[in-house]
Amino acid sequence: MEFLETVNNRHSVRDFSDRLVKRADLEDIVQTAGKAPSWANDQPWKVVIATGQTLAEIKKNHLASSMNGRMENSEFPSLHRASMGRQGQSNLRIWSSGIHKFLGANVNDMYDDSANLFNAPAIAYLLLPADLSAWTTYDLGAFGQTLMLAAKDKGIDSIPAEEFVLNPTALHQILGIDNDYVIGMGIGLGYAKDAKINDFRSKRMDLTKFLTIKD
Ligand SMILES: Cc1cc2nc3c(=O)[nH]c(=O)nc-3n(C[C@H](O)[C@H](O)[C@H](O)COP(=O)(O)O)c2cc1C
Repeated sequence: MEFLETVNNRHSVRDFSDRLVKRADLEDIVQTAGKAPSWANDQPWKVVIATGQTLAEIKKNHLASSMNGRMENSEFPSLHRASMGRQGQSNLRIWSSGIHKFLGANVNDMYDDSANLFNAPAIAYLLLPADLSAWTTYDLGAFGQTLMLAAKDKGIDSIPAEEFVLNPTALHQILGIDNDYVIGMGIGLGYAKDAKINDFRSKRMDLTKFLTIKD
């Protein structure tokens, strides 16, 4: 795919098909993500990808937590509506009402898909050293976006989601991750199912709202 086509075609997929992602493709996209820039080239990231039995155990645990209302918090502090700026709050409202309106009577599909970790056949967990800073978090964001674009370039769909990292105690144990690393973010990878929720497209602000060029 051409670069802009890749950027414009990436969107969050919330219901994946059973089709598996080849191991060689997973390795390729993580290798490409490693080209992301980072502070003094410190490359603070580590990636653990869960598939197969490991992912089945994670999904079972997540669904149980979701059903009994005993979900933990992510290791990155959650971003609550009240602590967002006005621009963020406004965009969140537009997104939330947009997806609810789009799904209409099927809105519960979104919550079911979340509880089932979007049926992703692979989840890439992005880790940072526990003594992280705003700069290493910036690095991880660049890494994550590069990973998703590298995936899309191969026709592989994705979703970055806090939902993947809401049960850090179980994730550390199942994935064998020591406490000197935090599980910052999860990215689901796979191929979109033919489902209404996957036809939703989030809107973007007009350029004039977020760009100033000063001569
Ligand atoms: C840090 C972060 C956390 C997110 N968490 C979730 C989540 O828990 N559940 C979800 O459905 N989408 C989640 N998303 C996806 C966003 O809703 C999505 O990226 C945004 O609406 C823009 O849509 P697009 O990715 O389709 O372009 C998250 C995205 C980011 C970057």
